[in-house]
Formats: sequence, C-alpha cells, structure tokens
Amino acid sequence: MEAFEAYLSAHLPSAASFHPHYELSLRQMLQGGGKRFRPALLLGVVRAFNPLMVESAYPVALSLELLHTYSLIHDDLPAMDNADLRRGMPTLHTTYDEVSAILAGDALNTYAFEVLSNAPLSDRVIVKLVRELSASGGASGMVLGQAIDCYFENTPLDVEQVRFLHIHKTGKLIAASLKMGAIVAGRDDMADRLYDFGIDLGLLFQIQDDILDVTMSSEEAGKTTNNDSAKNSFVTLLGFDEALAQADELARKLLERMESFDESLRRELSPTLVHYINRHKEQL
Ligand code: IPE
Ligand code: IPE
Ligand code: MG
Ligand code: MG
Ligand code: MG
Repeated sequence: MEAFEAYLSAHLPSAASFHPHYELSLRQMLQGGGKRFRPALLLGVVRAFNPLMVESAYPVALSLELLHTYSLIHDDLPAMDNADLRRGMPTLHTTYDEVSAILAGDALNTYAFEVLSNAPLSDRVIVKLVRELSASGGASGMVLGQAIDCYFENTPLDVEQVRFLHIHKTGKLIAASLKMGAIVAGRDDMADRLYDFGIDLGLLFQIQDDILDVTMSSEEAGKTTNNDSAKNSFVTLLGFDEALAQADELARKLLERMESFDESLRRELSPTLVHYINRHKEQL
C-alpha cells in the first residue's frame, strides 16, 4: 500500500487560486490517513488476477478513496452527524466553516470521476468502472443509505431495515471496490461473486463500526465516537452483546466463504480480509 499512498500524494486535487484555504481544504482529509480499506480491496483483487495491471489500477483505487472521503466530510457536517474529529484531525467544518466542508465534498466527489476517466485503461473498461462507482456510491447506493440514516434518527427501524441501511451506506461501495478490481483485471466473470461477498463484508464493516462507536474513545478512533445514540446502529437496535454475537457470526461465515476463493485471490486478499473481519474482537 506504500506505492498507492505515494500515488495518492502525487495526485491530490490541485486548485491554485487566491482563495486562502480552498486547495488545502480539498487535500486535508485525504492526507490525514484513514485505513484505505477500499483501495486495498481493489488492489488485492487486481494483484490476484492480473498483477501487471496493478499500477494502472492506482487511479481506480484513488477514485474509490476520493468518493469515500467526500462521504465522510459530508457525514460529519452539523446537518448530518455533527462530528468534530475525523482521521485524527478536526473536521473541515470545524477548522474552516460549513461552506468549505460542503464544497470540499463536492470537489472530491467529482474529482473521483475525473481521476477515473484519466486512468490508463480502455475506454470500455473506464465506462464500466464509472457505472459501478456511480451506482454504488450514488443515488441508489451510499447516498440512499445516508438519507435513511439521517431521516430515521430517533425513529427505531427493524433489523431488516437496518441491514438495508448498512448495506447501502457502507456495503455497496465496499462491494464495488472488489467488483471494480475484477473489471480492471479483465475478470468480469468474477465480478458478481465478489460483489455479493463485498455486500456482506460491508455489512460486517458497518456493524463493527457501530460496535467501535461504543468501545473506542474518540482519541483511539481518531474520529468522534459515542455519537450513535439517536442512530439506528446495530448496537442501539440489538444491544451490545447481541450486536457482537451477530458480528462474530457474520465474520465466521465470511471467513468460511473465503476458503472457496481461488488460491491467488486468497493469497492476495487474506491479509486485509482476515485483519478487518476480526477487527471488532481486538477492542474488547
Ligand atoms: C468510516 O469508514 C465510515 C464507514 C463507512 C464505516 P472507514 O472506517 O473506512 O474510515 P477511514 O477511511 O478509515 O477513515
Ligand atoms: C457513515 O457511517 C457511512 C458513510 C457513508 C460516510 P457512520 O456515520 O457510522 O461513519 P462514522 O462512524 O462517522 O465514520
Ligand atoms: Mg453517519
Ligand atoms: Mg458519522
Ligand atoms: Mg459510525
């Protein structure tokens, strides 16, 4: 991932002007770290199926991280989760103002597609990738999840509805990361299978995130925690112990499904997957 990090640093959005902090506000949250989970998934799939394509996949991995980072910037706004810490730093609306945070999100969202459109891949492949990223990150994907998350604050949903919420706000972009890896590598035959796996992986990732909201301090998490009491999180829905039991069960099933992956896919994805699939156990 070091090479990807260097690629990201070399391709931060640039927008020189006489605005005192605009360009900085676009770059700040990208430079602040973050786990780079979605790029790692995409690059793992490409490395497994077509290692010669890995460098060409960096802009695709960056496009995922850009769209994800925009979603975090907007997620933290006062109108949404009203959080003042992200990736170990004050959120953009805290450092600057809400206008800066809204516009930085807008800019990263569109820059994601600019970067993707310039990837050294065939036009046909780029169109497929644009389709996946926009469908999973947009109106019927992440944005729908965020809309439900915010609209139903203080209104309890049932388990199926919270699964729907989590699959949309988090699962679909994670599923797209795996699927886009298959598309870059020319292994469209694996795209649906990886997408299905990614939906459950993303569901687990969000259940874990709900657990970490109560087990980690803001300092440890680098983001505002203990912030979900009005939310339809798995913990508020089921209680801590049952949320944990469901995470364990989902983790077990995912690890089992991984066993049926091709050897190369297991080799390239296992380090990332095993680490994240078990992450809720580390904090206890
Ligand atoms: C946080 O995503 C929001 C969720 C979808 C759970 P990450 O946990 O991937 O955040 P970063 O990228 O590491 O900051
Ligand atoms: C946000 O979920 C998911 C996004 C699409 C950004 P959360 O609101 O739980 O994410 P955190 O806990 O603030 O990172
Ligand atoms: Mg949120
Ligand atoms: Mg949030
Ligand atoms: Mg959360």
